[in-house]
Amino acid sequence: MAASNTQQNYDKISELKAFDDTKAGVKGLIDGGIIKVPQIFIHPEALEEKTTNPKNTHFIFPLIDLQNIHINNKEIVKQIQEASETWGFFQVINHGIPVPVLDEMLRGARRFHEQDIDVKKPYYSRDVARKVMYNCNFDLFSEKSLAANWRDSLYSVMAPNPANPEEIPETCREITIEYSNYVMNLGYTLLELFSEGLGLKPNHLKEMGCAEGLGILCNYYPKCPQPEVAIGTSRHADNDFFTVLLQDDIGGLQVFHKNQWVDVPPTHGALVVNIGDILQLISNDKYKSIVHRVLANKIGPRISIASFFSTGPFATSRIYGPIEELLSKDNPPKYRSTTMKDFFEYSNKKGLDGNSNLSHYKII
Ligand code: OGA
Ligand code: NI
Repeated sequence: MAASNTQQNYDKISELKAFDDTKAGVKGLIDGGIIKVPQIFIHPEALEEKTTNPKNTHFIFPLIDLQNIHINNKEIVKQIQEASETWGFFQVINHGIPVPVLDEMLRGARRFHEQDIDVKKPYYSRDVARKVMYNCNFDLFSEKSLAANWRDSLYSVMAPNPANPEEIPETCREITIEYSNYVMNLGYTLLELFSEGLGLKPNHLKEMGCAEGLGILCNYYPKCPQPEVAIGTSRHADNDFFTVLLQDDIGGLQVFHKNQWVDVPPTHGALVVNIGDILQLISNDKYKSIVHRVLANKIGPRISIASFFSTGPFATSRIYGPIEELLSKDNPPKYRSTTMKDFFEYSNKKGLDGNSNLSHYKII
């Protein structure tokens, strides 16, 4: 038994390594004409029942209009608070980012992933010290990873201390910079709304540094010949304060709500916002960091742009715990405080293994 496990493990590692050495990602497999999903991508989560439960049609995924935010402030705060407490997810429209900017960001990501492999190869890395990197599965070699995800990604650090413009691939340089400026502004607006929804003064979360760090992840999900055995992004909750997600019109993103998977409807011009683990931690469980995933699809590619708000790698010694103002005798802290360094190291090492990062910090 032990011997065969070791053998299996060895085969898996050499298979992973051979795949990784191509630096061509999942897209390289598709370009090579594969018609079967390689073993390393066969994911137990995909083999479970994964079709959308037809019962979920009665759920209305929250859609919040940010138009006239100063006039309608109370109503918008209420909607955001409710969505953050129950779904941990919502979509926003009239968010201040022009739709042509969104469209060009999706096109820019696509240009990067679809250019000549020799231009992409120098960016292939998992070195967290790098400000720009492209890879297939940041946790490909993690022992806990159940199987590889069917997606390739380009990650750029945009704040604080952003990547130098020339470090960002030319195919998406200009738009990544433009989009990140817009998304940073939206991030600060959302932080005010999140703060008010918690009953705090509008600049509370901003002053805690909750939007100082911005990382932009350009995901490319190639079409999959056997979507029933692979998964685009396996179930996880985000390890940041909050995320702003731009998705194209293909679909496949699902949120685990009230014990079932609910589709997030692609809505042209809208952005998806979700609460991350650290905002759940500092809000002492008032806001929820909800598990989500992306299904693999027969059609593709699907493109998405995830903007992760965190402290960024240079403020990692800062300590975060449940916010004092929210605590009382009846609402004692549910989590121990942590440095961001500790939190990122823990969650990065753990990878997308299907378990929560937060349980590690929970006071039992
Ligand atoms: C993520 C994520 C969803 C998507 O990158 O954390 O959840 O639609 N992405 O790509
Ligand atoms: Ni996510």
